[in-house]
Amino acid sequence: MMIDNLIALILARIITLFPNYLSLLKKLEIGVFFFCWRCYLEAKNLPGYYGRLDENLKEQALSEYSHAQVFCQLTGSKLNMSGAGLMNREEKQAFNWGCVNWDSSLESYQVDGMSTRYLSAKIFFGFRTANSYDWCDRVAFMCVLEDFQHCFYKELLRFVPPEVQEKLAPIIEDELTHTINLHASLWMITGVKRSSNLLLIWHIRKYLALLCIPVDAVKFALGNSVGDVKRDA
Ligand SMILES: [Fe+2]
Ligand SMILES: [Fe+2]
Repeated sequence: MMIDNLIALILARIITLFPNYLSLLKKLEIGVFFFCWRCYLEAKNLPGYYGRLDENLKEQALSEYSHAQVFCQLTGSKLNMSGAGLMNREEKQAFNWGCVNWDSSLESYQVDGMSTRYLSAKIFFGFRTANSYDWCDRVAFMCVLEDFQHCFYKELLRFVPPEVQEKLAPIIEDELTHTINLHASLWMITGVKRSSNLLLIWHIRKYLALLCIPVDAVKFALGNSVGDVKRDA
């Protein structure tokens, strides 16, 4: 949608004004990885009419992890282990464990609760957690988010240096693939008519959430400057 491109363009311009925007993208990607991974574990025992939803979610989780890894490398750090290794090692604890360690930066990041931490996320998820929704809504909002992410990264290309552009191009393709796969799953689970209704609702929520991004941006900027002061002290 044209309006999405315009919003993504503005957002991409603003976000690249922050010197640590790659670190923010890394955190977002790792958040998506955890969400997909947990959904995959839950989706394993779903009945046949859910199709390949579990496999789609697993593939997407690994792909999101590789995106986080790319942003990590661009920021000069590295995630401790491969996505597949993490998935195997921590499978039993997937539902109560969400802390990631980055090798070189000694940075640790609590992934849990992203859907209730930021105002835009609260608005998007209607003041509920992302995983409190049923499968129809989950797949619909994931589809809407992936679609916007694809749009956003495409616009981001304009503002990043060549070394980031080069790494971002394949990620853009992946986000489109995620959107297409989720769309196919949604059709399969809900049928064409209900899927259109669900997507419409989540697109509206997306626009409401986007209106709150400036508030989160200010909070993020202030949070980081407080962190800088603490580190310097
Ligand atoms: Fe991604
Ligand atoms: Fe994605």
